[in-house]
Amino acid sequence: QQVEAEVVTFSVPSYACQRRTTLENHNTVLTDALSLLAENAELSDEDGRGVAFRRAAAVLRSLPEPVTDMKQLRGLPCLGDHSLRVIKDILEDGASREFESTKQSERFKALKVLTGIFGVGSRTADRWIREGIHTLQQLRDSGQSLNRAQQAGLEHYDDLNRPLTAAEAEAVGEIVERAVVSVLPGAQITLTGGFRRGKLTGHDVDFLITHPDEGREEGLMSKVVSWLESQGFLLYQKTTRNSYLESKDGPARPPANMDRFERCFSIFKLTMEERRGTEQPENGERNPNPAEDTLSVGARSGSQTDENTPPQSQVPADERRHRVSGEDGGQEEAKPAAHKPWRAVRVDLVVSPISQFAFALLGWTGSKLFERELRRWAGHEKAMSLSSHALYDNTQSRYLRATSEEEIFAHLGLEFIPPSERNA
Ligand code: GTP
Ligand code: MN
Ligand code: MN
Repeated sequence: QQVEAEVVTFSVPSYACQRRTTLENHNTVLTDALSLLAENAELSDEDGRGVAFRRAAAVLRSLPEPVTDMKQLRGLPCLGDHSLRVIKDILEDGASREFESTKQSERFKALKVLTGIFGVGSRTADRWIREGIHTLQQLRDSGQSLNRAQQAGLEHYDDLNRPLTAAEAEAVGEIVERAVVSVLPGAQITLTGGFRRGKLTGHDVDFLITHPDEGREEGLMSKVVSWLESQGFLLYQKTTRNSYLESKDGPARPPANMDRFERCFSIFKLTMEERRGTEQPENGERNPNPAEDTLSVGARSGSQTDENTPPQSQVPADERRHRVSGEDGGQEEAKPAAHKPWRAVRVDLVVSPISQFAFALLGWTGSKLFERELRRWAGHEKAMSLSSHALYDNTQSRYLRATSEEEIFAHLGLEFIPPSERNA
């Protein structure tokens, strides 16, 4: 009798955009290791190696059950020699030496800390490390000149490195909604990024703004930013015109209206009043006067600019928040900084004309790897160029219109994958 163990094998299509990847991951030990090695490669300017590890991690993330045996990986796509070696070490020895040593390395730790500063990329971090700067304190003491983004990033470091909850994302959404409705009634706001994919936490909140009448969205971003600024919601903002020319993934022939596409990187000041406004009502400590939640916005505008002296009315709110959130295990209570009645939140705003909305929505929902794979599929399998603005068919030499994500997937010959299954 054969005593051969039954080995479960998997069949997985090779492009992440052909797969349904939910947030459920049965192989976290393996994917954590490969993701860290990907991150290390990206931080070391080795993008090719980074993508290889990302693709390998994504394949494992899409599997319906844990991998226990190397035999199960036979025939799976995107698993190169290097990734297979890491997986084998973990499956057979319980640990990967490369993963452990990378994680512990001084260089990786310093790169993580320094690129954790908003506005600091891997090249800046690398330069600082070569000058002997490995920690935030060493950076502060070094007298390095920081740009405006980096100054804000350093100042709000702890807040910006503490994951945002879905409730906080919702609170930010309400503020953005108020801003947009105030400056252009009829404009529409859509949550994009990780929170649209159903993630429970995120490093920022992403929004896409449009108006059903083409052209009405022009000039909208600066008005929204002015409104947010006047209400005291912005700690930092930088608005840029999004040009095709600076995007290496853009189609070869940009349409004439490309300059309408605007983006704002910002840091919001989210007060406890706003955060509390979206919490579940069953906590017995709700503000007995719900009107205060909305009134607080107007009351804070104008002269209220000193961050260190919040209005007295906010202090009890903060106290309440503290006692309440002790129950839900909020990490922020561990640090004294949490005693301030607000937190800094990274927010990305994008304005798109309605004619490009479906492309922008698909392009800003992610995940990053899913997006990359969509563009690779379009280029390699369909001779098309996909961007956040348009889809160009190189065979027919024309743009393919779409008013929904479903239509774009159809143009690409792909089965529609909903946002919650784009967590590659
Ligand atoms: P977290 O924010 O880390 O929780 O995850 P996320 O998936 O929301 O990531 P992020 O906010 O960085 O990006 C959201 C989406 O926007 C991803 O699909 C990115 O590919 C896309 N994105 C980010 N920056 C750019 C950019 O400069 N241009 C375009 N076209 N897309 C971008
Ligand atoms: Mn995001
Ligand atoms: Mn973002």
